[in-house]
Amino acid sequence: KTYGCQMNVYDSSRMSEALVSEGFDITENTDDADFILLNTCHIREKAAEKIYSELGRYRVLKDKNPNLKIGVAGCVAQAEGEEIIKRQPLVDLVVGPQAYHRLPTMLKKLQEGGRSIDIEFPTEDKFLHLPKVNNKNLKPSAFLTIQEGCDKFCAFCVVPYTRGAEVSRSPNDLMDEAYSLTEKGVVEITLLGQNVNAYLSQRNGSKWNLAKLISELARIPELKRIRFTTSHPNDMCDSLIDLFGSETKLMPYLHLPVQSGSNKILKAMNRRHTVAHYLGVLERVRERRPDIAISGDFIVGFPGESDTDFQETIELVERVGYAQAYSFKYSSRPGTPASDLEEVEESIKSKRLLELQAVLGEQQKKFQRKMIGNEYPVLIEKQGREAGQVVGRSPYLQPVFINGSTDLVGEIVSVRMKSYRTNSLEGEIL
Ligand code: 5AD
Ligand code: SF4
Repeated sequence: KTYGCQMNVYDSSRMSEALVSEGFDITENTDDADFILLNTCHIREKAAEKIYSELGRYRVLKDKNPNLKIGVAGCVAQAEGEEIIKRQPLVDLVVGPQAYHRLPTMLKKLQEGGRSIDIEFPTEDKFLHLPKVNNKNLKPSAFLTIQEGCDKFCAFCVVPYTRGAEVSRSPNDLMDEAYSLTEKGVVEITLLGQNVNAYLSQRNGSKWNLAKLISELARIPELKRIRFTTSHPNDMCDSLIDLFGSETKLMPYLHLPVQSGSNKILKAMNRRHTVAHYLGVLERVRERRPDIAISGDFIVGFPGESDTDFQETIELVERVGYAQAYSFKYSSRPGTPASDLEEVEESIKSKRLLELQAVLGEQQKKFQRKMIGNEYPVLIEKQGREAGQVVGRSPYLQPVFINGSTDLVGEIVSVRMKSYRTNSLEGEIL
């Protein structure tokens, strides 16, 4: 069961592949399982607490099936380690995000009795030790992790501790993986990293940054669309910005978190960029690709955030005009520098979140409305909610519902947009 970010989705699929190649079968039904693995998220307190309530529900399953083993992977595993077992003795295995290649061995150890914990940060590349993507039922759109970890140490964030330092995977390995995905029918790849635009590696003596990697991937004929997430404003270099104007396979969507519109709060957050820098990056991106959809992340109620600071966030949002965004109440995380600071009252956080989400919601609506009556290429991904309906993605990442057959899955079709909802569009194939 996967919680949290897209990287966890990717990691879960690689772990599944590893277990399948060891002879396991995958089931979505916990009642049928001999092993349940939760891939967890530690980013906010609520996300981590959810894991413990889920674990609690497995007691009855363990009573029914004494051979059932329960594992915790992901960022809660990394952050809490052995403590997880102390708090929830049902847990048999704890595996951190950098140790997934050891999962099959750890499971064998479990079968011999006892528990197994591995939250080391080994120097080897775990992906080189996991089986290659082999799933024949891949969707037309796939994730590819190119970079992991973070060296930025924003004051509120657990990621540098749970995912470790920034590490980029080798271009050879990534090109191989991309080819093996496209051979299986994948036409869109989303490149993943906690700081994806900090990607930096080498091939044949020359440097490869994210722009170079995207340009090379774009040469794979079967690959039609490329996306990347998540970026940091300080790593938006010129070559990447320029690519939005020159590489037609790079989709016009940029998720660029800013967190706050107050320079004082950005400083306290240790973001190491200003509001002006952020706006400057977006201006340059928009010069190259005026229709681009901008997305972001916001935290309200960071310690020390005054009404004026919060109003500056609203002003920033009004200046940018987001197509879509994620916003959260600040959640104090153990071990982070901000956890020592005095918190903003909960009721103020809630009020600010509502106000921000109202503004962001209006902007999203405006962005959706602009599409109506126009034609866009839509990549059909799967069957829709109703029979005879399929769902795909616009270039701007919006889900689009269309009447059509599932034979279209994997095709990019021209669609006229007819109506919109909060998060999706409805259209007709031309
Ligand atoms: N509290 C609230 N939101 C957080 N995020 C990261 N850490 C915290 C925290 N302690 C948000 C940021 C980040 C997104 C992935 O989660 O906005 O960009
Ligand atoms: Fe967390 Fe900041 Fe790193 Fe993003 S850049 S993962 S918010 S520390």
